[in-house]
Amino acid sequence: MNWESIDAHAKQWIKEAGDKIRSSFEKTLNIETKSNPNDLVTNIDKEIEQFFIGKIRGVYPQHKIMGEEGFGDELKSLEGIVWLIDPIDGTMNFIHQQRNFAVSIGVYENGIGKIGLIYDVAHDELYHAISGEGAYLNGKPIPLLEETTVKESILALNATWVMENHRIDHNIMIPLARDARGTRSYGTAALEMVFVATGRVDAYISMRLSPWDFAAGAVIIQELGGIVTNVRGEPLDFLTLDSVLTANRGLHQVILKDYLKDGKW
Ligand code: IPD
Ligand code: CA
Ligand code: CA
Repeated sequence: MNWESIDAHAKQWIKEAGDKIRSSFEKTLNIETKSNPNDLVTNIDKEIEQFFIGKIRGVYPQHKIMGEEGFGDELKSLEGIVWLIDPIDGTMNFIHQQRNFAVSIGVYENGIGKIGLIYDVAHDELYHAISGEGAYLNGKPIPLLEETTVKESILALNATWVMENHRIDHNIMIPLARDARGTRSYGTAALEMVFVATGRVDAYISMRLSPWDFAAGAVIIQELGGIVTNVRGEPLDFLTLDSVLTANRGLHQVILKDYLKDGKW
């Protein structure tokens, strides 16, 4: 498989997608809700996903595509080459802030991550990794992750998980949030994952993400020696919703063993 050529195409398309998104800032968005009033989608999310699908089908008709907005294939397995695409991750931020969102593309072969691309459009920052060849930010190598302790770590997590909610026992998360140096909540899984990759935050925890939210970030973080699992410490499932715990190796182990082990996830 010519990964260099797939990578070159993916990079070119993600930059073109960024240009389209930037020019949409001048226009009025068409905003709809999906599963609930806070689950938003715009015409741009849909247009960008369709843009990628047109490009991929034109050059790689044998590849499969899993896209958030549903224009790709309905996949029951990860056999072959699969593109996992989130055209805009952080749609709520895109609508309200015109920043703090990203385009996220993971390319997997038989379930193994090969390429990860996350484009922070507002900052023109492209995070990128090919498995086995290092991870880069705008072409500059990102250093390997350093170990941190909980006390000196910033954790990215949504406030939902430390207040009463209908998914998890929030009491499990409170000690972790209290012991950490600080917590942050950016509202975009893709960027929160590249913030782990670049050491801007030390860990990211989310209870409910989709494969297109974490596919690209997982490739980038693992390339830098970081660990990506669900909150039970198991490998992520790329065919369904899953939780995510990602951090540098030492911190990941401590969070799992000392804080999350009693959770009924
Ligand atoms: C969402 C963002 C958010 C996360 C949600 C995702 P979207 O993606 O990544 O940070 O908490 O679970 O659905 O809908 O903006 O692509
Ligand atoms: Ca998303
Ligand atoms: Ca999205």
